[in-house]
Amino acid sequence: MASVVILGTQWGDEGKGKIVDYLAQQAEVVVRSQGGSNAGHTVAVDGVEYKLRLMPSGILFKGTLNVVGNGVAFNPKVMLQEMDGMIEKGIDVSGIRISNRAHVVMPYHCEMDVCLEEMKGANKVGTTKNGIGPCYVDRDNRIGIRVCDFIDKEEFAKRLKENLAIKNKLMAGVFGKEPFDYEAILKEYEGYADRLRPYVCDTIALLHDEIRAGKKILFEGAQATMLDIDYGTYPYVTSSHPVSGGVCVGAGVAPRDIDKVVGVVKAYCTRVGEGPFPTEQLNEIGDKIRDAGHEYGTVTGRPRRTGWLDACVVRYAGMLSGIDYMAITRLDILDIMPEIKMCVGYKYKGELLNEIPASLKVLAEVEPVYETFEGWQTDISGIRKYEDLPEKARIYLERMAEVTGIKLGIVSVGPNRDQTIIIA
Ligand code: GTP
Repeated sequence: MASVVILGTQWGDEGKGKIVDYLAQQAEVVVRSQGGSNAGHTVAVDGVEYKLRLMPSGILFKGTLNVVGNGVAFNPKVMLQEMDGMIEKGIDVSGIRISNRAHVVMPYHCEMDVCLEEMKGANKVGTTKNGIGPCYVDRDNRIGIRVCDFIDKEEFAKRLKENLAIKNKLMAGVFGKEPFDYEAILKEYEGYADRLRPYVCDTIALLHDEIRAGKKILFEGAQATMLDIDYGTYPYVTSSHPVSGGVCVGAGVAPRDIDKVVGVVKAYCTRVGEGPFPTEQLNEIGDKIRDAGHEYGTVTGRPRRTGWLDACVVRYAGMLSGIDYMAITRLDILDIMPEIKMCVGYKYKGELLNEIPASLKVLAEVEPVYETFEGWQTDISGIRKYEDLPEKARIYLERMAEVTGIKLGIVSVGPNRDQTIIIA
C-alpha cells in the first residue's frame, strides 16, 4: 500500500467505514477530501462502536495523521463534539490536521438548508440539513469563510459581518425568519477557533511532504458515486465529488500520486432520500433486507430504501474512478435469502441501454434486467478464506466481477475487523 483511495460505488452507506478502518491499520496518514458532517461512518473496534462524521477514521489508530482536506465543508462545532467524544473514550486526537483552505459551515448554512428544502416542497432533495450544500454555494459565490479566516479574529469578524448583511436580508425577506445575531455567532465561533487553531495547517504542503517521504496514505471517501454532483442522480445528489478525481481537488494531490482505487460495494443496494433507484424492492424482499441489515441512517436514523445489487451502477463507478478492485461488504446479510437477484442491464422502451442514462426521467422508467442466483442460506460470518465461502456465494461474487469488469479484492462477512476475507 502506498496511496489508496477508498470510495463508495452506490448511493452511500456501503460500509466504507469498515473497509477504511481495515486498511487504515496499515496507513500512516488518513485523509478526508470532500463532504462534511453529512457523512456517517460506523466502525466497530473490539466491540465498541464509533460513529464518525467529520473525523478521518485513522483517529482510531495511534500515531496516525488525520487530515481534513481543503475540499471538506468543515463544521467546527461537530468537529469539537467528535473530538471531545474521542477524548472521553481515551483516544488521542493530537494527530488531527485541518486544512487552512477548507470552508467553514456556519449556522446560516444549516438554516438555509432547512429553508430551501421546505421551499422546494415535493421536489426536495432529502438533504441531511447539515448546511453542506449552502456552504459550498458560498464557496462558489466567493463569499465563503475559510478556516484560515476563521482562526484570524479580525478577519473572521469582518467576513461574518459581510455575510450576515446578505444572509439576514435573505432570512427576513425571502424566508420570513428572524435575523442571525452577529455578536452571538462571533462569540461562539471565536470559542471554537481558540480550541481548533493548534490543529490548522497547510495540509497541501503536509501531504506533499508525506507522499515524497513514501508514507502510506489512505484517502477515505464520504458519500458515493451515484451521489456525485456531476455523475450521480442529479439533483438527488450531494454537493461534492465522491469519485477518485474529487480526491485530487479536495486534498490538493496530483493524479499520479494515487496508486490504487478501491470501490466499496454493498452486496445489495440501499439509498436514502429521494431519487430513482431502479432495483428498489418496495415489497417483502425489501423489508427483509432492511430488517436483516438494520438499514437505518447512522446520523438521521431514517429507514433506508432497499433493493438488489445494481451491477450497472458499480460498472459505471469503476469507469469513473478507475477502480482497481472491489471491497464487497455485508455479504452475510444475504445469508437468509433463498434467492438473490443482480441487475445486469437496463431496458428502456424495449431497448437495452449500455450506459447509465443522464435523464432521471429515463432512469426512473428503466426496467432492470435481472439474473437470479440461488441463495447459500448458511451463516458465512465465521469464514475467513475465499475458498471456504459456499460455492453459491462465490458464483454470485464472480458474476459481479464479470459484469462490472472489476476484480474482487476484499469480501466482508461481518462488522468486525477480523470478519474480512482478503483476495487481492
Ligand atoms: P458509509 O461511509 O456511508 O459507507 O457509512 P458506513 O460505513 O458507516 O455504513 P453504515 O452507516 O451503513 O454502517 C455500516 C454498518 O455495517 C456498521 O455498523 C458496520 O459495522 C457494519 N458492517 C460493515 N461491514 C459489514 C459486513 O460485512 N457485515 C455486517 N453484518 N455488517 C457490516
